[in-house]
Amino acid sequence: MSKPIKILGIAGSLRKTSYNRGALRAAQEVAAPDTTIEIFDLDGIPIFNQDAEKPAPEPVAQFKARIRQADAILICTPEYNYSIPGVLKNAIDWASRPYGDSAWDGKPVAIMGASPGMLGTARAQYHLRQCFVFLNMRALCRPELMIAEASDKFDEQGNLVDQDTRDRIKKLVTALVAWTRQLQK
Ligand code: FNR
Repeated sequence: MSKPIKILGIAGSLRKTSYNRGALRAAQEVAAPDTTIEIFDLDGIPIFNQDAEKPAPEPVAQFKARIRQADAILICTPEYNYSIPGVLKNAIDWASRPYGDSAWDGKPVAIMGASPGMLGTARAQYHLRQCFVFLNMRALCRPELMIAEASDKFDEQGNLVDQDTRDRIKKLVTALVAWTRQLQK
């Protein structure tokens, strides 16, 4: 069997019954036996302040270590005001600093997102892709996964109950693993 792939899942919402946290849990459930997905909760990450970069606050140091230990990153995010939620952008900024010590450099990454709206976080996802250019992350192009009309696809606890979406998440995780293996060659 090939070497297992370790993915770090990051949700762009802290909401207890978040659709996006639920979609990440679904990704854990559908991942193949050679793939592990651990979820890092952004709850403890402080607000970024460049004066506090060196040394990084302990939760940020832990976050950067977990990113570095992972073979790939899976981000599942809502869209806030047509863009990336502050909680996620804040965490991305922390882990990119100080200059020259970014934890993101070269990491394979896939994006998905859930929204009650019709576009399923598309605008936030493209803004994320723009950040990944500067961060030198290896973003998976396809499949894209925009989970629209999420209120019909998740229950009140934020658990995914839609089989088609579950299948699409499985395809995305499988593609991320293949992409990661290709980059590791
Ligand atoms: C939103 N929401 C939202 N939805 C969307 O599709 N496009 C948007 O631009 C916005 N903007 C927005 C701004 C702010 C500040 C909030 C709080 C919400 C709605 C959002 O998709 C909805 O709250 C989701 O349920 C958030 O995802 P989680 O928390 O369920 O993962």
